[in-house]
Amino acid sequence: MVKYIRAPPPLVTIFLWFLLIESFSNASQSDVECLRAIRDSLQDPSNNLASWDFSNTTEGSICHFTGVDCWHDDENRVLNIRIADMGLRGEFPLGVAGCSSITGFDISSNNIHGNIPNNISKLIGYVTTLDLSSNQLSGQIPVDIANCTYLNHLRLDDNQLTGQIPPQIGLLNRIKTFSVSRNRLSGPVPRFINGTTFSAENYANNVGLCGEPLPPCQGPARKSHAPVIVGGAVGGVAFSALVFGIVMFVFMKKMSRKKKKGDPLGNKWAKSIKGAKRIKASYMYIFFWWH
Ligand SMILES: *[C@@H]1O[C@H](CO)[C@@H](O)[C@H](O)[C@H]1NC(C)=O
Ligand SMILES: *[C@@H]1O[C@H](CO)[C@@H](O)[C@H](O)[C@H]1NC(C)=O
Ligand SMILES: *[C@@H]1O[C@H](CO)[C@@H](O)[C@H](O)[C@H]1NC(C)=O
Ligand SMILES: *[C@@H]1O[C@H](CO)[C@@H](O)[C@H](O)[C@H]1NC(C)=O
Repeated sequence: MVKYIRAPPPLVTIFLWFLLIESFSNASQSDVECLRAIRDSLQDPSNNLASWDFSNTTEGSICHFTGVDCWHDDENRVLNIRIADMGLRGEFPLGVAGCSSITGFDISSNNIHGNIPNNISKLIGYVTTLDLSSNQLSGQIPVDIANCTYLNHLRLDDNQLTGQIPPQIGLLNRIKTFSVSRNRLSGPVPRFINGTTFSAENYANNVGLCGEPLPPCQGPARKSHAPVIVGGAVGGVAFSALVFGIVMFVFMKKMSRKKKKGDPLGNKWAKSIKGAKRIKASYMYIFFWWH
Protein backbone atom coordinates (compact mmCIF):
# COMPACT_ATOMS: atom_id res chain seq x y z
CA MET A 1 0.00 0.00 0.00
CA VAL A 2 2.68 2.42 1.08
CA LYS A 3 4.81 1.20 -1.78
CA TYR A 4 1.92 1.69 -4.16
CA ILE A 5 1.36 5.29 -2.99
CA ARG A 6 5.02 6.20 -3.04
CA ALA A 7 5.68 4.71 -6.41
CA PRO A 8 4.08 7.37 -8.71
CA PRO A 9 6.03 10.45 -7.62
CA PRO A 10 9.34 9.22 -9.07
CA LEU A 11 7.53 8.35 -12.29
CA VAL A 12 5.94 11.78 -12.40
CA THR A 13 9.27 13.36 -11.58
CA ILE A 14 10.99 11.41 -14.31
CA PHE A 15 8.26 12.39 -16.72
CA LEU A 16 8.61 16.08 -15.75
CA TRP A 17 12.40 15.86 -16.05
CA PHE A 18 11.97 14.29 -19.44
CA LEU A 19 9.72 17.19 -20.50
CA LEU A 20 12.13 19.74 -19.05
CA ILE A 21 15.19 18.21 -20.69
CA GLU A 22 13.25 17.85 -23.91
CA SER A 23 12.27 21.53 -23.94
CA PHE A 24 15.79 22.58 -22.97
CA SER A 25 17.41 20.47 -25.61
CA ASN A 26 14.95 21.79 -28.19
CA ALA A 27 15.81 25.36 -27.31
CA SER A 28 19.55 24.71 -27.36
CA GLN A 29 19.22 22.46 -30.41
CA SER A 30 18.09 25.53 -32.34
CA ASP A 31 21.32 27.27 -31.34
CA VAL A 32 23.30 24.25 -32.52
CA GLU A 33 21.42 24.34 -35.81
CA CYS A 34 22.02 28.10 -35.97
CA LEU A 35 25.79 27.65 -35.81
CA ARG A 36 25.67 24.74 -38.22
CA ALA A 37 23.69 26.87 -40.70
CA ILE A 38 26.15 29.75 -40.32
CA ARG A 39 29.11 27.48 -40.91
CA ASP A 40 27.43 25.83 -43.90
CA SER A 41 26.56 29.18 -45.51
CA LEU A 42 30.09 30.54 -45.30
CA GLN A 43 33.21 29.48 -47.11
CA ASP A 44 36.14 29.19 -44.76
CA PRO A 45 39.26 28.87 -46.92
CA SER A 46 41.65 29.26 -43.97
CA ASN A 47 39.73 26.70 -41.91
CA ASN A 48 39.35 29.15 -39.05
CA LEU A 49 36.10 27.48 -37.98
CA ALA A 50 37.73 24.06 -37.59
CA SER A 51 36.61 23.93 -33.95
CA TRP A 52 32.99 24.15 -35.08
CA ASP A 53 32.58 20.37 -34.90
CA PHE A 54 29.01 19.14 -34.70
CA SER A 55 29.75 15.43 -34.16
CA ASN A 56 29.12 15.78 -30.41
CA THR A 57 26.59 18.39 -29.47
CA THR A 58 26.14 17.67 -25.78
CA GLU A 59 25.18 20.70 -23.67
CA GLY A 60 27.99 23.20 -23.59
CA SER A 61 29.86 21.69 -26.53
CA ILE A 62 29.26 24.66 -28.84
CA CYS A 63 30.46 27.03 -26.14
CA HIS A 64 34.04 26.02 -26.95
CA PHE A 65 33.72 26.89 -30.62
CA THR A 66 36.02 29.68 -31.79
CA GLY A 67 34.21 33.02 -31.53
CA VAL A 68 31.18 31.65 -29.69
CA ASP A 69 30.21 32.80 -26.19
CA CYS A 70 27.35 31.13 -24.36
CA TRP A 71 25.18 32.49 -21.57
CA HIS A 72 26.43 29.55 -19.46
CA ASP A 73 29.34 27.30 -20.31
CA ASP A 74 27.25 24.17 -19.78
CA GLU A 75 24.31 25.22 -21.88
CA ASN A 76 24.08 25.49 -25.66
CA ARG A 77 22.61 28.97 -25.66
CA VAL A 78 24.62 31.48 -27.67
CA LEU A 79 25.26 34.94 -26.24
CA ASN A 80 27.72 36.34 -28.82
CA ILE A 81 29.17 35.32 -32.13
CA ARG A 82 32.44 37.06 -32.91
CA ILE A 83 34.02 35.70 -36.04
CA ALA A 84 35.88 38.78 -37.28
CA ASP A 85 38.89 38.70 -39.57
CA MET A 86 38.76 35.02 -40.49
CA GLY A 87 38.74 35.29 -44.27
CA LEU A 88 35.13 34.06 -44.38
CA ARG A 89 33.25 34.38 -47.66
CA GLY A 90 29.60 34.35 -48.58
CA GLU A 91 26.43 36.29 -47.97
CA PHE A 92 25.04 37.48 -44.67
CA PRO A 93 24.31 34.20 -42.82
CA LEU A 94 20.51 34.12 -42.45
CA GLY A 95 20.91 31.05 -40.21
CA VAL A 96 21.86 33.37 -37.33
CA ALA A 97 18.09 33.70 -36.77
CA GLY A 98 18.22 30.33 -34.98
CA CYS A 99 20.40 31.81 -32.23
CA SER A 100 17.40 33.44 -30.61
CA SER A 101 19.24 34.67 -27.51
CA ILE A 102 22.13 36.35 -29.28
CA THR A 103 23.12 39.84 -28.15
CA GLY A 104 26.25 40.42 -30.21
CA PHE A 105 27.12 39.61 -33.81
CA ASP A 106 30.50 40.55 -35.23
CA ILE A 107 31.45 39.33 -38.70
CA SER A 108 33.67 42.30 -39.51
CA SER A 109 36.79 42.14 -41.70
CA ASN A 110 35.72 39.18 -43.78
CA ASN A 111 34.55 38.91 -47.39
CA ILE A 112 30.81 39.01 -46.82
CA HIS A 113 28.97 40.29 -49.90
CA GLY A 114 25.38 40.93 -50.95
CA ASN A 115 22.72 42.92 -49.14
CA ILE A 116 22.11 43.40 -45.46
CA PRO A 117 18.84 41.42 -45.05
CA ASN A 118 15.81 43.69 -45.07
CA ASN A 119 14.27 41.60 -42.28
CA ILE A 120 17.33 41.88 -40.05
CA SER A 121 15.25 42.66 -36.96
CA LYS A 122 13.53 39.28 -37.44
CA LEU A 123 16.93 37.61 -37.51
CA ILE A 124 18.85 39.32 -34.71
CA GLY A 125 16.31 41.66 -33.13
CA TYR A 126 17.92 41.66 -29.67
CA VAL A 127 21.50 42.44 -30.53
CA THR A 128 23.20 45.26 -28.68
CA THR A 129 26.29 45.02 -30.91
CA LEU A 130 26.27 44.54 -34.66
CA ASP A 131 29.56 44.85 -36.51
CA LEU A 132 29.46 44.26 -40.26
CA SER A 133 32.36 46.60 -41.04
CA SER A 134 35.14 45.88 -43.54
CA ASN A 135 33.25 43.52 -45.82
CA GLN A 136 31.82 43.87 -49.34
CA LEU A 137 28.21 44.45 -48.41
CA SER A 138 26.27 46.40 -51.02
CA GLY A 139 22.79 47.78 -51.59
CA GLN A 140 20.98 50.03 -49.16
CA ILE A 141 21.00 50.02 -45.39
CA PRO A 142 17.61 48.40 -44.63
CA VAL A 143 15.15 50.57 -42.75
CA ASP A 144 14.33 47.51 -40.62
CA ILE A 145 17.68 47.90 -38.85
CA ALA A 146 15.90 50.64 -36.88
CA ASN A 147 13.75 47.87 -35.39
CA CYS A 148 16.79 46.41 -33.64
CA THR A 149 15.97 48.72 -30.77
CA TYR A 150 18.60 47.40 -28.34
CA LEU A 151 21.50 48.40 -30.55
CA ASN A 152 24.28 50.18 -28.68
CA HIS A 153 27.02 49.65 -31.25
CA LEU A 154 26.36 49.61 -34.96
CA ARG A 155 29.30 49.50 -37.35
CA LEU A 156 28.74 49.37 -41.10
CA ASP A 157 31.90 51.17 -42.19
CA ASP A 158 34.14 50.08 -45.03
CA ASN A 159 31.60 48.34 -47.28
CA GLN A 160 29.95 49.30 -50.59
CA LEU A 161 26.63 50.45 -49.23
CA THR A 162 24.72 52.91 -51.41
CA GLY A 163 21.72 55.22 -51.17
CA GLN A 164 20.60 57.17 -48.17
CA ILE A 165 20.90 56.28 -44.51
CA PRO A 166 17.32 55.52 -43.36
CA PRO A 167 16.37 58.45 -41.09
CA GLN A 168 14.59 55.95 -38.80
CA ILE A 169 18.03 54.89 -37.56
CA GLY A 170 17.87 58.10 -35.54
CA LEU A 171 15.19 56.44 -33.40
CA LEU A 172 17.73 54.04 -31.89
CA ASN A 173 17.79 55.59 -28.45
CA ARG A 174 20.60 53.47 -26.95
CA ILE A 175 23.08 54.05 -29.73
CA LYS A 176 26.62 54.82 -28.59
CA THR A 177 28.66 53.77 -31.61
CA PHE A 178 27.60 54.45 -35.17
CA SER A 179 29.93 54.35 -38.13
CA VAL A 180 29.18 54.28 -41.84
CA SER A 181 32.44 55.73 -43.13
CA ARG A 182 34.01 54.41 -46.33
CA ASN A 183 30.87 53.44 -48.22
CA ARG A 184 29.03 55.08 -51.14
CA LEU A 185 26.27 56.68 -49.15
CA SER A 186 24.62 59.99 -49.92
CA GLY A 187 21.99 62.27 -48.46
CA PRO A 188 21.41 63.51 -44.92
CA VAL A 189 23.11 62.10 -41.85
CA PRO A 190 20.50 60.77 -39.38
CA ARG A 191 19.39 62.98 -36.53
CA PHE A 192 19.46 60.87 -33.40
CA ILE A 193 16.89 60.99 -30.67
CA ASN A 194 18.18 62.40 -27.31
CA GLY A 195 20.52 64.64 -29.32
CA THR A 196 23.19 61.94 -29.63
CA THR A 197 25.79 62.96 -32.22
CA PHE A 198 28.75 61.26 -33.83
CA SER A 199 31.88 62.92 -35.13
CA ALA A 200 32.49 63.51 -38.83
CA GLU A 201 34.98 60.66 -39.09
CA ASN A 202 32.09 58.21 -38.67
CA TYR A 203 30.62 59.54 -41.92
CA ALA A 204 33.84 60.19 -43.82
CA ASN A 205 34.64 58.88 -47.30
CA ASN A 206 31.19 58.51 -48.78
CA VAL A 207 29.93 60.02 -52.03
CA GLY A 208 27.56 62.65 -50.71
CA LEU A 209 26.59 62.62 -47.05
CA CYS A 210 25.61 65.98 -45.62
CA GLY A 211 24.22 67.69 -42.57
CA GLU A 212 25.67 68.16 -39.09
CA PRO A 213 28.56 67.36 -38.40
CA LEU A 214 29.23 67.51 -42.16
CA PRO A 215 28.56 70.56 -44.36
CA PRO A 216 24.87 71.39 -44.70
CA CYS A 217 22.75 69.59 -47.28
CA GLN A 218 22.14 71.45 -50.55
CA GLY A 219 18.57 70.22 -50.97
CA PRO A 220 16.67 72.56 -48.61
CA ALA A 221 19.08 75.43 -49.34
CA ARG A 222 18.47 75.16 -53.09
CA LYS A 223 14.73 75.01 -52.47
CA SER A 224 14.76 78.29 -50.53
CA HIS A 225 16.74 79.91 -53.37
CA ALA A 226 14.33 78.66 -56.04
CA PRO A 227 11.92 81.61 -55.83
CA VAL A 228 14.88 83.97 -56.12
CA ILE A 229 16.04 82.24 -59.29
CA VAL A 230 12.50 82.30 -60.71
CA GLY A 231 12.14 85.93 -59.61
CA GLY A 232 15.47 86.76 -61.21
CA ALA A 233 14.51 85.01 -64.43
CA VAL A 234 11.08 86.66 -64.55
CA GLY A 235 12.62 90.02 -63.70
CA GLY A 236 15.27 89.52 -66.38
CA VAL A 237 12.65 88.60 -68.99
CA ALA A 238 10.47 91.58 -68.05
CA PHE A 239 13.48 93.88 -68.12
CA SER A 240 14.71 92.64 -71.48
CA ALA A 241 11.15 92.89 -72.84
CA LEU A 242 11.10 96.51 -71.72
CA VAL A 243 14.51 97.16 -73.33
CA PHE A 244 13.31 95.34 -76.44
CA GLY A 245 10.18 97.50 -76.53
CA ILE A 246 12.19 100.73 -76.23
CA VAL A 247 14.71 99.58 -78.84
CA MET A 248 11.85 98.58 -81.14
CA PHE A 249 10.17 101.92 -80.58
CA VAL A 250 13.35 103.86 -81.38
CA PHE A 251 14.12 101.56 -84.30
CA MET A 252 10.64 101.87 -85.79
CA LYS A 253 10.81 105.65 -85.44
CA LYS A 254 14.18 105.67 -87.20
CA MET A 255 12.86 103.29 -89.84
CA SER A 256 9.81 105.40 -90.54
CA ARG A 257 12.03 108.50 -90.69
CA LYS A 258 14.56 107.20 -93.22
CA LYS A 259 13.82 104.06 -95.19
CA LYS A 260 17.18 103.32 -96.78
CA LYS A 261 18.69 100.53 -98.85
CA GLY A 262 21.34 97.93 -97.86
CA ASP A 263 22.17 95.72 -94.91
CA PRO A 264 22.00 98.06 -91.85
CA LEU A 265 18.60 96.70 -90.96
CA GLY A 266 19.83 93.15 -90.11
CA ASN A 267 22.96 94.49 -88.47
CA LYS A 268 21.11 96.91 -86.24
CA TRP A 269 18.61 94.22 -85.33
CA ALA A 270 21.37 91.89 -84.21
CA LYS A 271 23.08 94.66 -82.25
CA SER A 272 19.92 95.60 -80.38
CA ILE A 273 19.28 91.96 -79.43
CA LYS A 274 22.88 91.54 -78.31
CA GLY A 275 22.63 94.69 -76.18
CA ALA A 276 19.44 93.49 -74.52
CA LYS A 277 21.03 90.13 -73.75
CA ARG A 278 24.05 91.72 -72.15
CA ILE A 279 21.89 93.93 -69.98
CA LYS A 280 19.77 90.96 -68.95
CA ALA A 281 22.85 88.91 -68.06
CA SER A 282 24.39 91.63 -65.88
CA TYR A 283 21.05 92.31 -64.26
CA MET A 284 20.67 88.66 -63.29
CA TYR A 285 24.25 88.53 -62.09
CA ILE A 286 23.59 91.41 -59.70
CA PHE A 287 20.38 89.75 -58.58
CA PHE A 288 22.14 86.48 -57.71
CA TRP A 289 25.00 88.27 -56.07
CA TRP A 290 22.57 90.28 -53.96
CA HIS A 291 20.85 87.12 -52.72
C1 LIG B 1 30.68 14.42 -25.96
O1 LIG B 1 31.56 15.30 -25.28
C2 LIG B 1 31.49 15.28 -23.88
C3 LIG B 1 32.46 16.29 -23.32
O2 LIG B 1 32.41 17.48 -24.03
C4 LIG B 1 31.82 13.88 -23.39
O3 LIG B 1 31.67 13.81 -21.98
C5 LIG B 1 30.91 12.86 -24.05
O4 LIG B 1 31.32 11.55 -23.71
C6 LIG B 1 30.97 12.99 -25.55
N1 LIG B 1 30.00 12.09 -26.17
C7 LIG B 1 30.31 11.35 -27.21
C8 LIG B 1 29.21 10.47 -27.72
O5 LIG B 1 31.43 11.34 -27.71
C1 LIG C 1 14.39 36.95 -44.04
O1 LIG C 1 14.43 37.18 -45.44
C2 LIG C 1 15.04 36.14 -46.18
C3 LIG C 1 15.08 36.58 -47.61
O2 LIG C 1 15.82 37.73 -47.74
C4 LIG C 1 14.25 34.86 -46.02
O3 LIG C 1 14.86 33.82 -46.72
C5 LIG C 1 14.16 34.51 -44.55
O4 LIG C 1 13.33 33.40 -44.37
C6 LIG C 1 13.61 35.67 -43.75
N1 LIG C 1 13.70 35.32 -42.35
C7 LIG C 1 12.78 35.65 -41.46
C8 LIG C 1 12.99 35.17 -40.08
O5 LIG C 1 11.82 36.32 -41.74
C1 LIG D 1 9.31 47.86 -37.24
O1 LIG D 1 8.50 46.74 -37.55
C2 LIG D 1 7.13 47.02 -37.67
C3 LIG D 1 6.41 45.72 -38.02
O2 LIG D 1 6.95 44.64 -37.34
C4 LIG D 1 6.88 48.05 -38.73
O3 LIG D 1 5.51 48.39 -38.78
C5 LIG D 1 7.68 49.27 -38.44
O4 LIG D 1 7.53 50.17 -39.47
C6 LIG D 1 9.11 48.92 -38.26
N1 LIG D 1 9.85 50.09 -37.90
C7 LIG D 1 10.91 50.50 -38.56
C8 LIG D 1 11.55 51.73 -38.05
O5 LIG D 1 11.33 49.90 -39.52
C1 LIG E 1 17.04 58.36 -24.75
O1 LIG E 1 15.64 58.57 -24.68
C2 LIG E 1 14.91 57.42 -24.34
C3 LIG E 1 13.46 57.79 -24.40
O2 LIG E 1 13.13 58.36 -25.62
C4 LIG E 1 15.33 56.91 -22.98
O3 LIG E 1 14.63 55.72 -22.69
C5 LIG E 1 16.82 56.63 -23.00
O4 LIG E 1 17.24 56.24 -21.72
C6 LIG E 1 17.58 57.86 -23.44
N1 LIG E 1 18.97 57.52 -23.56
C7 LIG E 1 19.95 58.33 -23.16
C8 LIG E 1 21.33 57.82 -23.34
O5 LIG E 1 19.72 59.42 -22.70
